[in-house]
Amino acid sequence: MMNQKKKTQLPLIAIILFFFIFVASTVFFNEHRFQQFHHNQDFDKITFSLNSSPPGKFNSVALDRFSSCNSTVKYNGRKAEWDVHLLQSDKQREHDDMCDVFSGRWVFDNTSYPLYNESDCPYMSDQLACHKHGRPDLEYQYWRWQPHGCNLKRWNATQMWEKLRGKRLMFVGDSLNRGQWISMLCLLESVIPAEKKSITPNAPLTIFRAEEYNATIEFQWAPLLVESNSDDPVNHRLDERIMRPDSVLRHASEWKHVDILIFNSYLWWRQGPVKLSWSNQKNGVCEEADGLEAMELAMDAWANWIRSNINPMKKKVFFVTMSPTHLWSREWEAGTEGNCYNEKLPIEDERYWGSGSDLATMRMVDNVVNKLRSRISVINITQLSEYRKDGHPSIYRKFWESRTAEQLANPMSYSDCIHWCLPGVPDVWNEILFHFL
Ligand SMILES: *[C@@H]1O[C@H](CO)[C@@H](O)[C@H](O)[C@H]1NC(C)=O
Ligand SMILES: *[C@@H]1O[C@H](CO)[C@@H](O)[C@H](O)[C@H]1NC(C)=O
Ligand SMILES: *[C@@H]1O[C@H](CO)[C@@H](O)[C@H](O)[C@H]1NC(C)=O
Ligand SMILES: *[C@@H]1O[C@H](CO)[C@@H](O)[C@H](O)[C@H]1NC(C)=O
Ligand SMILES: *[C@@H]1O[C@H](CO)[C@@H](O)[C@H](O)[C@H]1NC(C)=O
Ligand SMILES: *[C@@H]1O[C@H](CO)[C@@H](O)[C@H](O)[C@H]1NC(C)=O
Repeated sequence: MMNQKKKTQLPLIAIILFFFIFVASTVFFNEHRFQQFHHNQDFDKITFSLNSSPPGKFNSVALDRFSSCNSTVKYNGRKAEWDVHLLQSDKQREHDDMCDVFSGRWVFDNTSYPLYNESDCPYMSDQLACHKHGRPDLEYQYWRWQPHGCNLKRWNATQMWEKLRGKRLMFVGDSLNRGQWISMLCLLESVIPAEKKSITPNAPLTIFRAEEYNATIEFQWAPLLVESNSDDPVNHRLDERIMRPDSVLRHASEWKHVDILIFNSYLWWRQGPVKLSWSNQKNGVCEEADGLEAMELAMDAWANWIRSNINPMKKKVFFVTMSPTHLWSREWEAGTEGNCYNEKLPIEDERYWGSGSDLATMRMVDNVVNKLRSRISVINITQLSEYRKDGHPSIYRKFWESRTAEQLANPMSYSDCIHWCLPGVPDVWNEILFHFL
């Protein structure tokens, strides 16, 4: 009996996961109170101008949400032909700070946390505002990350702005990275008077400006890093993901001009096979690779771009590792059948690691970033976020479709155990970023 139950639950949860990543990213812009957004017509104009994005350097047809493959063959293992000398191992960057800030524990601290008030932040997303959407317990806002053997630099918004003076800071990635970007805006906006800040939404790139610091904090939607048919942040498809493994140009044309870049990519590779459409492939023939192979190709393309374009004396680049999910409570409490719903406390077992954080992917990422050690830093959020089964919105967020009676009777069935409530866990990711800047 138990077995049967589990079998029917797994695909359901996969569908839910799918649903969240999709819907979450689809509707983000509608929910916002961006001042420049007067009506939906503006929104449509922005959305549709995207379709005329310029073709890649090989003059192949750019991928968009209407792209499809004429036929699909199995991936034959080929890699893009990057300059070989660029992919040799890099010398490790010297670290004067020997403390491992990623190893530690969560400490309850309701005097210094939260670092901002959910309802005061004008950029808060309805997907992440858990208290507003009825979450009754607030303890998830009160945890401080305490590394073993040292302290994180104390968060100070004014000091952060001084570091950003005259600079562009850009987050590039998926909805998890967007959550970190919103957290950063909420952490920083309160010290800027209303008339000195503005936000310009532009579907692929959203820009927050702080006039007196001549600084911007931007978010670029690029869930697969390379060019893909999912590059429209509003209308994209997850059912058939097609990517161009040898082209980051669509996104990288912006990266060039940015001073501090923060990348992530993970969950979009965990939804089954991905189609590859190489620049020089004729007649719409695609190859199909599994998610890990495809992610490695994308990471190689990204790494190659970093190698060729980043002077570490002038620019800072960070890669944020996989954000954990809490879809199966049996992983932290044997014999239970739930997920993150109703979880109110972090996990205390320091060895805890959930099955959602794929070890093979982590090893692949380790390999790629090790080749870039002198040029990038890793913000290794995985282990510290693993502990935070209490940090997800579960049912306390805006849902875009109404719940069925069946769902309402079983809140677990529609809980979001992927994204993170704000204030909350992503604030700490940003404190770590502040620590390293
Ligand atoms: C902090 O938590 C303690 C213990 O739960 C409680 O007694 C205290 O009132 C709380 N303080 C604030 C400022 O919320
Ligand atoms: C957040 O701000 C609102 C309005 O300014 C206030 O009513 C509320 O008590 C604040 N919440 C916290 C936790 O400080
Ligand atoms: C933040 O840093 C500024 C400038 O270094 C300092 O004047 C201020 O007191 C600090 N604020 C806090 C809350 O520590
Ligand atoms: C503002 O910052 C940009 C770089 O982001 C720089 O090119 C420009 O010169 C700066 N302007 C002023 C007035 O400092
Ligand atoms: C798919 O095949 C059709 C018919 O052979 C062709 O006209 C079309 O250009 C192909 N699509 C791509 C993307 O090459
Ligand atoms: C991140 O930390 C985990 C352990 O928590 C480690 O296994 C992994 O290699 C680290 N990854 C990177 C890219 O530093």
